[in-house]
Amino acid sequence: MNLKQLVYEVENLSMDNNDLMLMETVFHNANGYIGIRSNYEEGYPEGYDTIRGSYINGFYDIAEMKQAENLHGLIEEKQTMLNVADTQTIYLKINNERFHLFDGTVLFSKRWLDMEQGVTGRQIQWRSPMGNEVEITIKRMTSFHQLSLFTIEYCVKALNFSGTVEFESLHNGEVMNYSNSNDPRIARESKRYLLPEDALIDEDASYLLSHTASSGLSVCTGVKHLLSKQGSIQTKLDGHKAITRIDTTIEEGESITLTKYTVFVDSIRSKNCMEKAKEEMHKATSLPLQSLYDYQHNYLSEYWDNCMLEIEGDSELTAAVNYNMYQLIQSVGKDEYCNIAAKGLSGEGYEGHYFWDTEMYIQPFFNLTEPQITKNLIGFRYKTLDKARENAGLMGHKKGALYPWRTIMGTECSGYFPSGTAGYHINGDIAYSIIAYYLTTKDIDFIVEKGAEILFETARLWVDVGNYYKGRFEIHGVTGPDEYTCLVNNNYYTNVAAQYNLRWAVKIYKLLKELGRLQPLADRIGLTEEEIKEFEKAAESMYLPYDEELKINPQDDSFLHKKVWDLERTPAEKFPLLLHYHPLNLYRYQVCKQADTVLAHFIFEDAQSLETIRNSFDYYEKITTHDSSLSTCIFSIVASKLGLKEKAYHYFGNSAKLDLFNTHKNTKDGIHTANMGGNYMAIVYGFAGLRIKEDGLYFSPSIPEQWKKYCFKINYEDSQIEVEIDHKESKFTLVKGNPKQVKIYGKSYELGDTLTIKAIS
Ligand code: BGC
Repeated sequence: MNLKQLVYEVENLSMDNNDLMLMETVFHNANGYIGIRSNYEEGYPEGYDTIRGSYINGFYDIAEMKQAENLHGLIEEKQTMLNVADTQTIYLKINNERFHLFDGTVLFSKRWLDMEQGVTGRQIQWRSPMGNEVEITIKRMTSFHQLSLFTIEYCVKALNFSGTVEFESLHNGEVMNYSNSNDPRIARESKRYLLPEDALIDEDASYLLSHTASSGLSVCTGVKHLLSKQGSIQTKLDGHKAITRIDTTIEEGESITLTKYTVFVDSIRSKNCMEKAKEEMHKATSLPLQSLYDYQHNYLSEYWDNCMLEIEGDSELTAAVNYNMYQLIQSVGKDEYCNIAAKGLSGEGYEGHYFWDTEMYIQPFFNLTEPQITKNLIGFRYKTLDKARENAGLMGHKKGALYPWRTIMGTECSGYFPSGTAGYHINGDIAYSIIAYYLTTKDIDFIVEKGAEILFETARLWVDVGNYYKGRFEIHGVTGPDEYTCLVNNNYYTNVAAQYNLRWAVKIYKLLKELGRLQPLADRIGLTEEEIKEFEKAAESMYLPYDEELKINPQDDSFLHKKVWDLERTPAEKFPLLLHYHPLNLYRYQVCKQADTVLAHFIFEDAQSLETIRNSFDYYEKITTHDSSLSTCIFSIVASKLGLKEKAYHYFGNSAKLDLFNTHKNTKDGIHTANMGGNYMAIVYGFAGLRIKEDGLYFSPSIPEQWKKYCFKINYEDSQIEVEIDHKESKFTLVKGNPKQVKIYGKSYELGDTLTIKAIS
């Protein structure tokens, strides 16, 4: 493995099936609209397992989710992201011998991801059984410039022979989703979700139009080939497949290139998919491929410039962190019809669903680097607000909106409500993320347009779900972030998030009123002063559990009454616990899948004293398995806050390398996008101690012993600030925008140009 800052390269490719499936994910191409797993064009040998997938963000069908005992309101169908047409296959024959990595002799092989150019590549030098030697170089790109477009540039160089070259290239609309009945994180079964509607050839391109079995959506894919020299290109249809044969000749030392263009168009975004696909194909093929590569490079130059993050003294970690940031821009939706899935567009784990991962782990990164993207993400929640209102009704609430635990188009898709729908904290998370966006950008127009309505509707829900007991406001029957503890009363995280949601609903109400921008919205949703008083009262009376003896915040009312799970004596092969123990078994113990109260201590740090936070950290650390990838990054941030440098570094490292090193052993099903955002947070919020509060920016810089220096850039209001931190000092530079007040180690400074502050250890 070779990790340079923006290139990730693997040589001597492994032929092991597990490694191949892992690499399908690691080297996938995506642009936020489409995602293509990195399957070999020529396929694997018979009997090998593979997830050969191409996905469109937000494109789904409805799948049945029969409940064995169908109680009222249980979810019986879900949306599932579809695997759409497969256009990856290209078979190559040289002098009548078919190229395959599993035949003949592989003289050299490597594959890479170039994050500066936005392409993946594979290069092989191969000797056929008859002794013909070729060098094959294949480059793939999903274009950021033209989101519908995926290209494969397949270059063949004859090393020691002259003769014939034949390609057989497939466009296959007869595809299924991947399934695995043994893993709860993957769909149990699959059926034919995509049904053929039309197939045709137009101007040498094949178009396959399909519709979904139940959701009423259509998708059209178009494929066209261009050859760098004279040859014959013939396409014929065979059912819902198009097969293209390309024949030409090659001289010793000559290189020829086949370029395969695929465009994907769906009916969520386009009225007439077939016509739109033709337009997109025309657009793609009217430019030289090099221009498309140039656009890709420019897009990424700007991206890297905005989210620049460098670590001196640990190139492997820098590369891992860059890899994570690259995956975030690959995965995140670029319009309001979609969001960012737990696995991005890299695989079918969690079926393409969007979770709270977006708001709590990924949006903080985009707030600071690409706030326009955050607007889309919140825009998606706004678009699905009516569905959240319906969901609240389904759950028996008289008012307000309850966002689904997991979804594609806004309805609840969780079949197991104890660790699904009961995760009401998602409402608080969405509210938190709107405020985080506002505090970072001060974009009040967006709050008026979209954010405020969500804040009010989520606040309404808390008032409906909670109740007063002996004067305190309590929230019962919910599940916090830790999914090994379900359906509890007064989950600390949920209550403190609800309090924040209610308080900010009141603040925004007052602010909009003051600005004269409240009335149209208040009238439209019937919001009254009485309700605002109710919000205020519930927030001020919110019960936040605290244990006098341990001086910690218990995770919920009954958490500390339970037995403690013996983690030390649990054999390594029994992790993650969720795959080996019945949920009820886990629920009866003090054992956490992930950061819960510790997350609350990061997000809502002002709610408790530093002493309580320290005690809680020590307590929960001993009983947390980090079986969820959303956990170690948060422990790293809180460890930094507490000055536990070694621990902060240890947890950070675990998080940074999770997918590249497959530490959770399930990267084959897709990357872990929340962890990728969390990993960025572990540096910026953790080591550098950034906080964005109502009264401005805070930093509390520290640096791991193992590093020499690190630097990053953030956007804040109208400005961009560069931060460089080493062992002696921290330097803050206003790259653009107006001077800003910043608090560094608790002291106020004006950042006009550059500010250098001595490190405190
Ligand atoms: C975690 C959830 C998370 C989901 C999707 C689960 O394992 O427990 O918190 O939202 O994965 O990433």
